[in-house]
Amino acid sequence: MIIGVRKEDPPGERRVAATPDTVTQLQKLGYEVVVEAGAGAGSGFTDDRYEAAGAAIGAADAADVVLCVGPPERLDALRPGATLIGLLNPRFKPELVEDLAKRPITALSLDAVPRISRAQSMDVLSSMANIAGYRAVIEAAHEFGRFFTGQVTAAGKVPPAKVLVAGAGVAGLAAIGAASSLGAIVRATDPRPEVADQVRSLGGDYLAVAEPEADDAPDTGYAKEMSDDYNVRAAALYADQCRDVDIIVTTALIPGKPAPRLITADMVATMRPGSVIVDMAAANGGNVEGTVPGERVVTPNGVVILGYTDLAGRLPAQASQLYGTNLVNLIRLMTPQRDGVLVLDFDDVVQRSMTVVREGELTWPPPPVAVSAAPAAVQAARPEAEPDAPSRTANPVVRRAGVAAAAAAMFALIALSPAALQVHLTVFALAIVIGYYVIGNVHHALHTPLMSVTNAISGIIVVGALVQISSGNAAITVLSLAAILLASINVFGGFAVTRRMLAMFIRS
Ligand code: NAI
Repeated sequence: MIIGVRKEDPPGERRVAATPDTVTQLQKLGYEVVVEAGAGAGSGFTDDRYEAAGAAIGAADAADVVLCVGPPERLDALRPGATLIGLLNPRFKPELVEDLAKRPITALSLDAVPRISRAQSMDVLSSMANIAGYRAVIEAAHEFGRFFTGQVTAAGKVPPAKVLVAGAGVAGLAAIGAASSLGAIVRATDPRPEVADQVRSLGGDYLAVAEPEADDAPDTGYAKEMSDDYNVRAAALYADQCRDVDIIVTTALIPGKPAPRLITADMVATMRPGSVIVDMAAANGGNVEGTVPGERVVTPNGVVILGYTDLAGRLPAQASQLYGTNLVNLIRLMTPQRDGVLVLDFDDVVQRSMTVVREGELTWPPPPVAVSAAPAAVQAARPEAEPDAPSRTANPVVRRAGVAAAAAAMFALIALSPAALQVHLTVFALAIVIGYYVIGNVHHALHTPLMSVTNAISGIIVVGALVQISSGNAAITVLSLAAILLASINVFGGFAVTRRMLAMFIRS
């Protein structure tokens, strides 16, 4: 099949759906790639670079699979049977959905990828929000007339800037990380208490508004609308913070709803002149009263409100690279044979969720997918979110029978052993049982420190086996050799894993 990469229609859109790097990866999946002339110009990718990567320069709309960032302004050029993949935004563009459904094509919307762990590598919204959160802080720093970091200089003391981030989702966390790495004092608030640790790990202070509310609605990985009681308490928090902070970045979002209004004009009026607000939710109605989408507004008291809606596109090369990589991951999922043939699998929850139209049949909206950002709930939601995932737990009856047989064999071995060996075998059997339950309950995140402990035990085993190996008894020598071999695998394996982990933190 031929994949076509469109030149985006809106003149302000600088991103492109494939970079020379991702073109190479698409070819490895068996596709031919055609890139429209000048498609990558806004991101700094010339036609020559696409050609050097193996793509042809030509008309992209006539391809079998058409990749875009935003939807094409005219769909007529798509050929029957084509598959269109991009940010189609079907939740807010019913007329586009209607138009797509009139055609014998398939349309997949990248903004509908469900927030489940398996789909993270295709989650374009998260990739773009990550870039946008970073860029929001850079825009704020550009407008702000002072340092972010505090300094003591010969000319006087400079206090650090204070930054408030409202909403600690993907964009909010990126903003917290960027602002704290510039040296600001960062605070963040979010109705989901589980983000508190993430906020702290990025150098911010978490400001809690209220206890989490009881909620029986299925979890979608996103926040829900908050109660009036919550909103009253939150308003008091924002009113306090507005009097204190220099920069505010708002990112509050409830998918499918207008952006919640967090900061009123009265609160903005209490901010110091020169303060900056970046309202990232501007395109959805804004979290801040007075935001104008796409514009820079200066209030009468000298506060700058930025309502830019193209923050990710302001880092176009980076945004195109991540967007293109998300697309490659999706196309890899849809090319099971790696033979350049795209196969839409409706049993796959990711592909089902993002399909707006299948060969002319309207399939939007998809059935809801339940997921959760909270670790405990993730476990509970997994079977529903990923129905095709193989069960990791063996049949419980078979497992119990296996455990009973192993226990019986151990008892028989202890009973039939010489008295001197019985004590050792009993300790060995108890160690197996206790070790199984203790290690089985250790959270995955703690497996690395656990590995250090098992390495220490393995060290003791090696020393013990070395002492015993020359006892003269052949059986003891063989057992000692086996113990040294097994314990060494653990020790050297531990070193190898640790080395790999450390290498991840070494700058090349
Ligand atoms: P997300 O869903 O990961 O995060 C949104 C956060 O808002 C969640 O943590 C949620 O708990 C929180 N939230 C919901 N209601 C709230 C409330 N009443 N008060 C405080 N927090 C609340 O979304 P993501 O991906 O981080 O995107 C954030 C916003 O940034 C969205 O509005 C998105 O459209 C926008 N965005 C803007 C861009 C731009 O160029 N301006 C580019 C990319 C994203």
